[in-house]
Amino acid sequence: MTNIRESAETGIMSQEELFSRVNALKKEMNALILAHYYTLPEIQQVADIVGDSLALARAAEKNSADVIVFAGVYFMAETAKILNPSKLVLMPDEYAGCPLADSCPTDDFSAFKERYPGAVVITYINSTAEIKALSDITCTSSNAEHIIRQIPENRQIIFGPDRNLGGYLARKTGRDLILWQGYCYVHDAFSEQALLKACGEHPGAELIAHPECREEVLRHAAFIGSTQMLLNHTVSSHSESFIVATEPGIIYEMQKRSPHKTFIPAPKDPDNPRSVCKQMKQNTLEKLHQCMVNRKPEIVIEEQLRLAALHSITTMLEMTPG
Ligand code: 13P
Ligand code: SF4
Repeated sequence: MTNIRESAETGIMSQEELFSRVNALKKEMNALILAHYYTLPEIQQVADIVGDSLALARAAEKNSADVIVFAGVYFMAETAKILNPSKLVLMPDEYAGCPLADSCPTDDFSAFKERYPGAVVITYINSTAEIKALSDITCTSSNAEHIIRQIPENRQIIFGPDRNLGGYLARKTGRDLILWQGYCYVHDAFSEQALLKACGEHPGAELIAHPECREEVLRHAAFIGSTQMLLNHTVSSHSESFIVATEPGIIYEMQKRSPHKTFIPAPKDPDNPRSVCKQMKQNTLEKLHQCMVNRKPEIVIEEQLRLAALHSITTMLEMTPG
């Protein structure tokens, strides 16, 4: 342990060396590394489990590790800690927040909720613990439709914080959702005009899109789904090429699963081919290694808030098959 720590503090290490040290630390600490599909390829390579928000929440719920290292954004690591109060939950970069989650301040959301007494509050997992504590059910883009369909028709539903996902779910389920007006800057940035141009340049390529994209983009998509659903679709589809309207980090796994297929990141605007989540990319291999060596930054959450937020997460897991 001491050697690893000393060496980490004194020199720049090669990627291979970092991989081998992270793997050694994993064993030594009985640590589980969870990484979202939007992180850098080298983070996905060293992780024990790579997944979308739902898969990672499930992995955080059921594991025998002593330490969880979460390479994602803050709300993901916070969810892991809410589910595992006795475990050490580490993050490579504690400043890797999610601007979508941050677009929903607690006091404003609380006042919004008060305007609709009796409404069921369903919030996307991309939200703070305080917002989860104000919610009845948490959801992800993989299970949101399934959860909404379980709410009796006579109940109003507040959905937040993503207005694009909420709008998509309202159209899909026919429910009149009361929407918080937040959005993900990555998915909201895809341009319809640039996309249509890309479709013209790649005839035969199938346009697939995440429901966090705007309606004007979704309406052109041949397939819409969460990150995991998009990945599964690229494997099962007969198409040989895809224009991918979601964070391009997922292309690493898509290409791995279908090496012979072509994946084109959807354009953000005519001059900018990619819309990238800067916060996900803050998880570098160096920071991942350092957080394991130093056993920090550690996620800490006050117990009363944890318990209040836990209810909406466990309700989601109970309402989700598999
Ligand atoms: P999923 O992982 O549920 O597809 O969500 C995408 C996302 O933006 C995560 O922050
Ligand atoms: Fe948040 Fe969007 Fe980044 Fe996901 S991709 S972490 S929703 S900013």
